This record gives sequence, C-alpha cells and structure tokens, in this order.
Amino acid sequence: MGLDTTIAKLHGRQVWDSRGRPTVEVDLWLSDGSLGRGVAPAGASRGSAEAVDLRDGGSALGGFGVRNALSLLNGEIAKNLQGKHFTNQAELDQELIELDGTPNKSRLGGNSLIATSLAFAQAQAAHQQQPLWQSLCTSTPAHLPLPEIQLFGGGAHAAGRIDIQDFMLIAVGAQTFGEALEWTAEVYRTAGELLRESGLLAGVADEGGWWPQFSSNEEALEWSVRAIEAAGFKPGQDLAISLDVAASEFGQSGSYRLSRDQRVLNRVEMLELLKNWLKHYPIISLEDPLAEDDDWKAVIPALGSSVQVIGDDLLVTNASRVQQAATHQSCNALLVKPNQAGTLTETKAALDAAHAAGWQAVVSARSGETEDVAIVHLAVGWGAAQLKVGSFSRSERMAKWNEALRIGEALGSTQLPPKDWFPWHQQNV
Ligand code: PGA
Ligand code: ZN
Repeated sequence: MGLDTTIAKLHGRQVWDSRGRPTVEVDLWLSDGSLGRGVAPAGASRGSAEAVDLRDGGSALGGFGVRNALSLLNGEIAKNLQGKHFTNQAELDQELIELDGTPNKSRLGGNSLIATSLAFAQAQAAHQQQPLWQSLCTSTPAHLPLPEIQLFGGGAHAAGRIDIQDFMLIAVGAQTFGEALEWTAEVYRTAGELLRESGLLAGVADEGGWWPQFSSNEEALEWSVRAIEAAGFKPGQDLAISLDVAASEFGQSGSYRLSRDQRVLNRVEMLELLKNWLKHYPIISLEDPLAEDDDWKAVIPALGSSVQVIGDDLLVTNASRVQQAATHQSCNALLVKPNQAGTLTETKAALDAAHAAGWQAVVSARSGETEDVAIVHLAVGWGAAQLKVGSFSRSERMAKWNEALRIGEALGSTQLPPKDWFPWHQQNV
C-alpha cells in the first residue's frame, strides 16, 4: 500500500544496547500523528563491506559514542526529511542514500540511516493501523520462520574462548514454532546443568548462549549432541546443529588460525575439517565457513550440497554480492542483517536476490541488540524461511522469540515453513 503522508518530525536520541554501548534510536512522526521508532543494533564480527556505523572514537565510552551521529541526525537528516513527502519506503531510503553520498554510509552513519529507515517503516505501519509484519506483507504469510537458536557462544562473542562463533540448534522435527522453542529450551537448560556439574561453565556469552571452557572446538560439537540426547531428543531428527563459523575472525589470505586447537590450516584443510565434522555430527547448516577474502567457489564442491551454506561477512546483505555469489555457486543461503545494508530497501533487495537465486534467507539480529523486535516483523513480513536472534536467555533475545509467538497468534498459525523448504535437512535424516 502506498503512503500519502508527510514527515512532520524526526528526533534521534542515544539509548543503550545489550553490551552497554550507546546506540542510535529514531522517533519519526508523520503529519497524521503516526509515530514510528527504529533502533540500530551493532555487530562484533563485522564484514569489511558492511555499512559503517558512525562512532565518536577516542577514549570515552570505549570510542563507541554516538554524539556525532546524533548531531547529524537531529541536524542535517532531520532538516532534509521534515516537511517532505515520500510515497513509499524506497523513496525515503533513496533520499537517505543520496544525502549520505558515500558507498558505505560512512558520512551520516549506517547506524543513523537504518534507525531512520526502520522508524519510517514503523510509522507507515502505524498510519495503516497494522503491525509492521502485516504492512510489509505482499502475499498472505502462512508461516513463522524456522528458528536457529544459539546453544554455545564463542569467537568474538566470548572473548575468543573457542574459535567457532555460534553453536546453534535447529528444531527440524518440530511441527510448530512454539514446539521448536520448547525443545530448544529443554536442551539449553540441560546443557547448562551438565556444564555446571562438570565445572566448565563460565557464564553466558554476548548472545545469551553458554560460555563454556572447552579445550577444543570439537568439544562444543560433542557437548551439543550430548545435551540434545540428555534432554531426551534425537540428534539430527528432532534437533540438528548449525554453526556460524565466522571464519573471517580467525582466517585471512587462505590461512586459518584455530587458537583453541593450536592449529593453522589452509583453505583445503579448513574445508576438510568441516567436512569431517559434517560426517560425525548432525550439522545441517554452516555460516561463513571461509573468511570473506577467500575463494568460496571451493566450498560446495568440498562439502557437498546437502548442507546449507550461508554467506554473512561475504555478502553483507548486498544484492549485487548475492547475484555474484549465485553465479559462482559460492553459497546457497543469505544471512539478512538490515544494518549491514543501511536501509530497509537495500536489505529487501538482497533478500529478493537470494530468493531469485533459489536460496533461502535467514533474517538475523546482531550480537549488540536492544529490546526492539522489528527484526521478527521483517522476517515474517518478507516471508523469510529462517530467523536467527541469538540464544535462549537475555531479554533482548527472548523479546524477539516472544514477539514471534504473538505474531503467530495474529497469523492464526504457528506452523513452520513446509519441510520441503529444507532439502539439506531431508538429506540428513
Ligand atoms: P555480529 O555477528 O557480532 O557481527 O552481530 C552475528 C553473526 O555473525 O551472525
Ligand atoms: Zn555470522
């Protein structure tokens, strides 16, 4: 539905994210009084081609201050948008892109731009008297996305305690979203109890997953299987494992330093290691198996096509990068992070490019989050098959799982996407 309203007022403020760092929040009013609010999340393992957040630098607040970003937001951006009329999201986002004028949003800041873009989408939904997911829907959605939920945190989210960043669960056997959450809750709780008993629990990592003191990366896989079984489920059939290797964090120029394992691997050896893990553990999805600067053409030939290969740092939610990767068959799924792109229109274009290539899209939060739940609305409204918002603790994560339950009620269905959307799972059972 088009929008025929004017932006009456835009106000940016500093709020705080889940790591206690400042971030940018935008309130945007339309002339009819409709209010939309958007907040910028923040990544810790960022792709080098992501939209750049504008931070103050220096020593205050660890350099993460957003004073400069806010003065541009409440000055230049507000001045340019207030009193202007945009018929749709694409027009507003185009204005933001042109106003910024850089290829990576570094002048006005990707943080300010995504918060503004989201605030406009929320205001548009408010104007239409619809929740965001519904105002974005072009066809009737029939499902909630399949959740990918972190069990153990590592990498940049746990001070490098283990090299691999995310060990996640996908409840492939669950019939409904609610059942997927219940099964995951049981495994999460069981894993915590077992780790505590073994003296291996160091707390929770940035996305709420257990922060374990494992002595090797593979131990996290053994423990994932152990926890699934101890909670009374069948690994691979009820719940499978998904990894975000986040290899750009420990790999460069084709060389991968696994500090926990005291090994340095080349690309072929890195893929061999992952292939070996695929053979021995019920892993159905691998995100960033290689670093962003490596040759991803080697991935699917080495690992086979029965595993989901997700591009995050490689693709940075960018439509032309997706098209290029599709040509080379470098991946078969896209991680969709709106603040990597900097506007909702560019985010949606990347998601559409993934769907056009026959890939799936995994809509994802960041490791630095707030109570904002817009990401869940985007996943449902855009018809993404999967959703990743971290683990099963910490309210900035739980708020999002809970919002999906509420949206499911509004949809009248908590059904997950049909099983044949997940061929990589079918081939593994
Ligand atoms: P982030 O990483 O720390 O950059 O948000 C999350 C992810 O890679 O999925
Ligand atoms: Zn990632």
